[in-house]
Amino acid sequence: MDPKQKIFKILNQADTVVSGETLSAELGISRVSIWKHIKGLVQSGIPIVSSPKGYRMTRDPDSLMPWEFDVWQDRIHYFQETASTMDEAMALARKGCPDFTVVVAQRQTSGRGRMKRIWLSADGGLYFTVVVRPEIPMILAGLVNLAAAIDVASLLRSLYQVDARLKWPNDILVNRHKICGVLSQMEAEGDQVAHMNIGIGLNVNNAPETEEPIAISLKALLGRPVPRREILVAFLDVFEKRILTFDPLAVIEEWKSRNVTLGRQVRVFTGKDMVEGTAVDVDSYGGLILRLADGTRQTVMYGDCFHQ
Ligand code: BTN
Repeated sequence: MDPKQKIFKILNQADTVVSGETLSAELGISRVSIWKHIKGLVQSGIPIVSSPKGYRMTRDPDSLMPWEFDVWQDRIHYFQETASTMDEAMALARKGCPDFTVVVAQRQTSGRGRMKRIWLSADGGLYFTVVVRPEIPMILAGLVNLAAAIDVASLLRSLYQVDARLKWPNDILVNRHKICGVLSQMEAEGDQVAHMNIGIGLNVNNAPETEEPIAISLKALLGRPVPRREILVAFLDVFEKRILTFDPLAVIEEWKSRNVTLGRQVRVFTGKDMVEGTAVDVDSYGGLILRLADGTRQTVMYGDCFHQ
């Protein structure tokens, strides 16, 4: 371990200020060298505060820096700013990064949503992409997206008591306002999923721009800012279990029990077509089954769904 890593470890484990003298004795180097290493750590973004008593690492519950993530820290790739976490995640996935590698950004300059929409990504929101490699056939990939939305919605309910509901395919609404969207990219090997990159944009402390449906943030709902790290960690913990024990039937049942789409008159835009009807069910792959005006049924596998 080099001196910087040793200093980092000591300060990270300490609950209080650690004097320059203590660090110098622990590492067997001069106090001036300690000071130089601390300066280097601060320059690389580590929040160390110096005082006449010594050095202390600040604990910001909202910080998304990898070293704050405990067991997840080796898999977190943090960007102060990037075009899109989807691009960073794709590059890592193609290079064979470990499962559950996470790319998280403070802000994105070209954040994107489904159907080629822009996802405005100002400071304060939670923007991340997780690389997963579920052992499932490609045809079930849509269920992984539904599962990601289910897991975000249930942690919003359990941590913050907000009534988070699912709109097909994987939007999360609270009181009909969109709080979260999920975008995924997949690459396959034969008919099996090679990797899926699940991108999640959650309005936490940002002021989301108006869109259809009108967006809302967690901060606006609760009337206080919310530390983003606890949300990300809670999600990663449940989503990892979800993928490692993937149960397609459970995903469909859970999605149905929390959705606001079934039973409604909807319009689904697929990019080239528009289908209108009553949403009556989801099939075993997560496709939305519509009953059309002439009584026939049609299943749509992807698209933008508007409730009428
Ligand atoms: C949607 O509702 O249209 C999906 C929005 C997904 C946005 C997230 S933010 C993190 C990741 N990076 C992106 O560029 N998009 C996704």
